[in-house]
Amino acid sequence: GKGNHRHFMMKEIMEQPAVIGETLNSFFNPKTRTITLPDLPFDWRDIPKMTIVACGTSFYAGMVAKYWFETLAGLGVEVDIASEFRYRSMPLAPGGLALFISQSGETADTLAALRYARENGQHIASIVNVEESSMGRESDFVFHTKAGPEIGVASTKAFTCQLVTLACLAIDAGKQRGVLDHEREALLSAALSEVPARAAEILENDTNIRDLAAEIFEARDILYIGRGPGYPVAMEGALKLKELSYIHAEGYAAGELKHGPIALIDEAVPVIVVAPTDHYFEKTASNMQEVMARNAQVIFLSDAAGMKQLGEHALGSIELPTVDPFVAPILYSIPVQILAYHVAVLKGTDVDQPRNLAKSVTVE
Ligand code: F6R
Repeated sequence: GKGNHRHFMMKEIMEQPAVIGETLNSFFNPKTRTITLPDLPFDWRDIPKMTIVACGTSFYAGMVAKYWFETLAGLGVEVDIASEFRYRSMPLAPGGLALFISQSGETADTLAALRYARENGQHIASIVNVEESSMGRESDFVFHTKAGPEIGVASTKAFTCQLVTLACLAIDAGKQRGVLDHEREALLSAALSEVPARAAEILENDTNIRDLAAEIFEARDILYIGRGPGYPVAMEGALKLKELSYIHAEGYAAGELKHGPIALIDEAVPVIVVAPTDHYFEKTASNMQEVMARNAQVIFLSDAAGMKQLGEHALGSIELPTVDPFVAPILYSIPVQILAYHVAVLKGTDVDQPRNLAKSVTVE
């Protein structure tokens, strides 16, 4: 059941500290405080290139992971939407790793992409939440996220558990490939191990998100912007909002604004800015100032240092805990889920069963 929640979605959002912890427990060794993966049927050092394929929210998890694998493991990653990838006849380097991300493990396009990758000489790994699945059966290796059954059509806890799994994989790859030294590995592992506690803090302090939802729920269009791994988080925020509230929303790389989308900005278009104080912060901050100069109503997501610099200029702000930028995309995903939830509740839409959508898309 929904426990004492009105919707499965909120119940599932609130479960995140626990299920992220469960998922992490499969890889985190509390004695050595390091990430240790089971024996894999491939060697990270031999992988020339990685291809990540998924749909929807799972695709955004893959996009976040691209930044992690490239910077932490020096491994080039191509990320693609399954419905595009499967029909494109993409040449794949022999011995590459193809990774499929899916809550259900049954998404038709992702499964077809998996079969294409197998026929084209790739190692096949998948990250799946449902224990028994077609993708799981057809993979050389399956990572099971421990999100538990996800009933709400909009993916929430499955997404953050996918991210945690991908973060562990990236650390492992970085270690094996000799890119991460012990010190950095220990720092990243420690940051990951704190994610459940930080996620719980976010959920305990979420009351102002409802007030912010009240400020924006009558908007016709809403933009989300971010840079680096904050860019896929922006796209995920926009997807959550549009599917739940039917408000038109788009996520953009903040640096792309001036190549077109900034023309949309006026006082009627709220802009949600995803901006942890990572090495992209100053650039994102300047994009935020550009949209404010055009009267956009900004909701600013950042940490204490970010708030100090820019918090008072925004219409509203959501202060997140100060964390290693590595884990920020996992944590910043939570307030965008909650914001979309409250906007949908204010609009009176069917939160758990948005119109036209199915939980598992087994037809193309
Ligand atoms: C959005 C959402 C969808 C799914 C997509 C892939 O909230 O849930 O975009 O992420 O349909 O589904 P899976 O992960 O089951 O392959």
